[in-house]
Amino acid sequence: MLLFKRIADLKKYLQTQKSTGKSIGFAPTMGALHEGHLSLIKRTKEENDCSVCSIFVNPTQFNEASDLEKYPQTPEKDIDLLISVGCDVLFMPNPEEVYPKGQLSDLKLDFGNLDKVMEGEHRPGHFEGVAQVVNRLLEIVEPDRLYMGQKDFQQFTIIQRMLVLTNSNTYLRVCPIVREEHGLAMSSRNVLLSPVLRKRAALIYETLSETKENMHALFPNQLKAIAFEKLNVPHFKPEYFEIIEGQTLMPIEVLEDVDYAVACVAVWVDGVRLIDNIILKKE
Ligand code: PAJ
Repeated sequence: MLLFKRIADLKKYLQTQKSTGKSIGFAPTMGALHEGHLSLIKRTKEENDCSVCSIFVNPTQFNEASDLEKYPQTPEKDIDLLISVGCDVLFMPNPEEVYPKGQLSDLKLDFGNLDKVMEGEHRPGHFEGVAQVVNRLLEIVEPDRLYMGQKDFQQFTIIQRMLVLTNSNTYLRVCPIVREEHGLAMSSRNVLLSPVLRKRAALIYETLSETKENMHALFPNQLKAIAFEKLNVPHFKPEYFEIIEGQTLMPIEVLEDVDYAVACVAVWVDGVRLIDNIILKKE
């Protein structure tokens, strides 16, 4: 695996790859890699000649300084994991390299409702930062295909819209959620949980699965209320539980009215914020 820290060196290398007709698959990450991230890299390898991963803890998408400070960083382990799945190129820039003109974004895109609800409502400025960095990384890597996880449902929906708004030639591929043994969606933040709570956090997936089981018997509002109650236990603080249409992210009143429905949740578990989702139906 080749490791680049400088944009100019990475671009030069990728240009030589592209000039020989090689396709580029790209998976951006913030490191502290786990099997969820690795599933993305494996897909880039299956579908492209050259797989590129980036590790960059993007300061502009953290709406709380303390969250950025405690974000786990395990660069040596990450490098070993990437080598183990055969990643071709790792890009690990520092913030000055990514934002030479400062961190203020001049990318102004109108995402309509997409960045106003759920994560957008509870993490002001978050998606502006995500769009800014993904746009910047895409300018640098210019991949044929971009790989993102269903785990961050709202994130990939917004990036999909960004690709359309910027007339990008890159295709987005969305990869399924990889879970821990007990059902908790893998996340870099899971290591911040105590072992007991990490196991108990399986409650989140259990709640999503129950919602799916009951979806034909109850209205979304009722499903939402039941889920909220189930998650409202000691050490857990549900922030939102929404049942939304999968493309517009608008709340659904009657499931039969839509073809694509997703339940999305954010829960604080002892000060660690976890998100997850389940596709209820996609016709
Ligand atoms: P990060 O949280 O490191 O996630 C990087 C990618 O891995 C995202 O596309 C995310 O959806 C995917 N991913 C995370 N957990 C997953 C899981 N359990 N199963 C499948 N895929 C999973 O998301 C970000 O970083 C950043 O916002 C980023 C897009 C890199 C921009 O800074």
